[in-house]
Amino acid sequence: MNLLETRALTASYGQFRALFGVDFRIEPGEVVAIIGSNGAGKTTLLRSITGILRQTPDMVIHRGEAIGAMAPDRIMQRGISMVPEGRMLFPSLSVDENLRIGAQARRGAGRWVLETVFDLFPILLERRNSPATALSGGQQQMVAIGRALMSNPELLLCDEISLGLAPVVIRDIYAALPLIRESGAAMVVVEQDIARALSIADRVYCLMEGRVTLEGRATDVTREAIHAAYFGTQEKVQP
Ligand SMILES: Nc1ncnc2c1ncn2[C@@H]1O[C@H](COP(=O)(O)OP(=O)(O)O)[C@@H](O)[C@H]1O
Ligand SMILES: [Mg+2]
Repeated sequence: MNLLETRALTASYGQFRALFGVDFRIEPGEVVAIIGSNGAGKTTLLRSITGILRQTPDMVIHRGEAIGAMAPDRIMQRGISMVPEGRMLFPSLSVDENLRIGAQARRGAGRWVLETVFDLFPILLERRNSPATALSGGQQQMVAIGRALMSNPELLLCDEISLGLAPVVIRDIYAALPLIRESGAAMVVVEQDIARALSIADRVYCLMEGRVTLEGRATDVTREAIHAAYFGTQEKVQP
């Protein structure tokens, strides 16, 4: 059974339609990448899943139950947690305090507590009493991921966690994702970096202008197919 799916999901901002009938699914423990250029609708899809944008109930199905109209806190209590675009930390609070806020949505016992988050990102243990504003961009991203983990999610949604970070920092953050996966969580990884996304995903979706233009196993999709789905052209890429 799918852990979560969207069925003919539409989403709008006022008169502006951002998603046009998106069918998406993820199985328990699976890692799914969503790629697509700026404005394709990736964040809107995540906002629809997490209840920030309310939907018709049966547009979002979690474990067979229609959750599209539920409030974000209830969806979080069901084990769906997001690392938002731009990290959204509490700037004046310390690393420790930011992480503890994530634990407020905690569902029973689970692997992720302060100590295991510090095992995952050891630099955060050294900085645990620093305010979030004193951290580097990469460290802030680690706090944002750790905060989402503190609720022991069954589904972790990561929105462009590599955005604006140096390659060496991105490498460190991506190195943590397999360890998160080993804890049993399914992950949706939204990325503009196609190669990065494919390197860790089981399956991939490409969005363009609010529609799914490609869906497939990460090992099966060709560069040509991705290029066409991402840019909407039939141009050949150089091998
Ligand atoms: N709060 C908003 N109000 C109005 N339009 C928005 C808002 N957020 C996103 N959009 C529009 O919806 C479309 C999809 O945006 P978004 O989901 O953020 O794309 P992506 O995450 O793929 O870059 C874009 O055209 C964007 O301009
Ligand atoms: Mg976005």
